[in-house]
Amino acid sequence: MIYFSDTLDTLSEVLSQKEAVFAVCDVNVKSIGEALGRSKSGKKIPVKYVTVSEKQKDLKLVQEICGWLLDKGADRNALVLAIGGGITTDVVGFAASIYKRGVKAAYVPTTLLAQVDAAIGGKTGVNFKKYKNMLGTIVEPEFTFVCSSCLKTLPEAIFRQGLAELLKAFLIENNNDNYRKAVQYFSGITSSTQYQDSTILLPYIQSAVKVKERIVGEDLYESGLRRVLNLGHTFAHGIEHLSQKWNWFKKPNPIPHGDAVAMGIVLAARLSHKVGLCPPLDEQLRDDFLSCGLKVDCPYSPKEILKAAKTDKKAEGDIVHFVLLRGIGDVVIKDMKISEAVKAMEA
Ligand SMILES: NC(=O)c1ccc[n+]([C@@H]2O[C@H](COP(=O)([O-])OP(=O)(O)OC[C@H]3O[C@@H](n4cnc5c(N)ncnc54)[C@H](O)[C@@H]3O)[C@@H](O)[C@H]2O)c1
Ligand SMILES: [Zn+2]
Repeated sequence: MIYFSDTLDTLSEVLSQKEAVFAVCDVNVKSIGEALGRSKSGKKIPVKYVTVSEKQKDLKLVQEICGWLLDKGADRNALVLAIGGGITTDVVGFAASIYKRGVKAAYVPTTLLAQVDAAIGGKTGVNFKKYKNMLGTIVEPEFTFVCSSCLKTLPEAIFRQGLAELLKAFLIENNNDNYRKAVQYFSGITSSTQYQDSTILLPYIQSAVKVKERIVGEDLYESGLRRVLNLGHTFAHGIEHLSQKWNWFKKPNPIPHGDAVAMGIVLAARLSHKVGLCPPLDEQLRDDFLSCGLKVDCPYSPKEILKAAKTDKKAEGDIVHFVLLRGIGDVVIKDMKISEAVKAMEA
């Protein structure tokens, strides 16, 4: 069940119908956790605050959350509510899915990325060794409460990273020409108050969620169709790998995920054209992403990126499931060898 709202008021109504709620809240959205703690319904919800980062997205945090649930007396009927960005929803969702062999989870995503992507579709997980989301489960949450006013405190730079995933959704399915409308709206934004206009934001978020929800609804366990959601991500993971995103101790996060996705989509569009699937689209997409505040100029060659992408867990042997574009809102999966793709892109 996904609720959409431009105010948090209705969350306490939803929660008042639930028993045994235990909330885990990102410390950066403490005000939301505090508001729940003094919920009008009279029921006091225990809240644990966590500090999150990719480095802390690990089994230690899962253990800490499970330990807290145990100390608070959470039993098999517990509903564990995650409040925060994608790291919080992934880790808390994972902890809930293994605590006492699995209790219910629910999400209040507070970043744009988490609202349109991470908190939708049931994937949970933590990083393990140097691999991102290497351990995880797929369990649909009891509900996700998508509230655009939660984004009011989100720094603009983090907001823009989420835009890459929102635009990606509309490149996969362009219902009502949402892609063009979103590019027009987000490229025209000049003041941060416009990012915070929860009433205007909500329909865009809702449409992007619907795209992911529909696709996941047909393929929860990623046996085929769900792969289209990886548009731009094979390249993005290669780019992130090269920029040593996962070498946390040396060079933390030089190319953020949203920028890497924007670069990856532009490269996927170039490959799509080179293999004859579509007219040249890459320059147009590049301009669109740039106007929306994303970085699109990739410092690496396709050969370097695809070699690095091979180490990504989504690559099976030498064959990669490339998500390619036949046009805006029209994607197709094409299995290609990395060497074949590099050759096409260099031609
Ligand atoms: N499960 C999935 O299907 C899926 C899909 C995409 C991404 N993800 C995961 O999502 C994670 C990235 O999510 P993210 O970008 O939301 O990261 P995040 O959770 O780290 O949030 C980004 C930053 O914003 C802060 N923050 C969150 N909400 C805020 C708010 N409203 N106001 C001020 N600050 C706020 C956080 O404390 C953090 O510092 C990655 O770990 C990725 O693997 C999962
Ligand atoms: Zn992504």
